Amino acid sequence: MTVIIRKAAPSDTEGIARAHVESWQTTYKGIVSADFLAAMSAGSRVTKWQETLSSLGERRFVFVAEEAGRIIGFVNGMDERENDPRYTGEVGGLYLLEEAQRQGTGRKLMQTAARELAQRGHTSMLLWVLKDNLPARKFYEALGGKILREKPISIGDQTLPEISFGWDNLINLIKE
Ligand SMILES: CC(C)(COP(=O)(O)OP(=O)(O)OC[C@H]1O[C@@H](n2cnc3c(N)ncnc32)[C@H](O)[C@@H]1OP(=O)(O)O)[C@@H](O)C(=O)NCCC(=O)NCCS
Repeated sequence: MTVIIRKAAPSDTEGIARAHVESWQTTYKGIVSADFLAAMSAGSRVTKWQETLSSLGERRFVFVAEEAGRIIGFVNGMDERENDPRYTGEVGGLYLLEEAQRQGTGRKLMQTAARELAQRGHTSMLLWVLKDNLPARKFYEALGGKILREKPISIGDQTLPEISFGWDNLINLIKE
């Protein structure tokens, strides 16, 4: 089946919210508390995604991966959010449904985000990943990201370590 990557539209809100929740529940099992994951619902994410999709513009973007009319994943990007002195663009989230993983779609979404950031004038970018999310770390390493630093993040009542990956030259990622 063909996977289409395209800019997200407001009508994608529910599809993105569902992919977001389902991917969190499979990816973070054993990392994020079971109670927190069980309490997540697409309904509770819809408002957040409605806000995001209605405030896209110069600083934020979202692309979806769609297969047979169904959203199987998404990436969102923006100007780097913490005034990093070196990296000016950021990927805020990249999530695929479990059954859509390891088929090259993650790489395509990262390259789409890198291209979009480059078009917006960025030459570098970073992203944050939970330290214990080893498959995602392998993916970012395979795409040429280098580990930058670590910081804690609060998820529910847990505090978990996150690490950042940086790309100094977006052109290399686009060409990967
Ligand atoms: C992480 C994620 C976005 C990667 O996307 P993907 O479509 O599965 O990965 P791709 O098929 O594009 O992989 C590209 C390369 O990355 C590496 N890679 C990807 N997943 C990997 C894994 N689980 N283990 C080791 N290497 C991996 C491989 O080198 C792969 O190339 P290959 O398939 O030719 O060997 C996707 O698996 C996903 O959504 N995971 C769950 C959510 C998540 O962890 N998101 C990141 C949060 S920060």
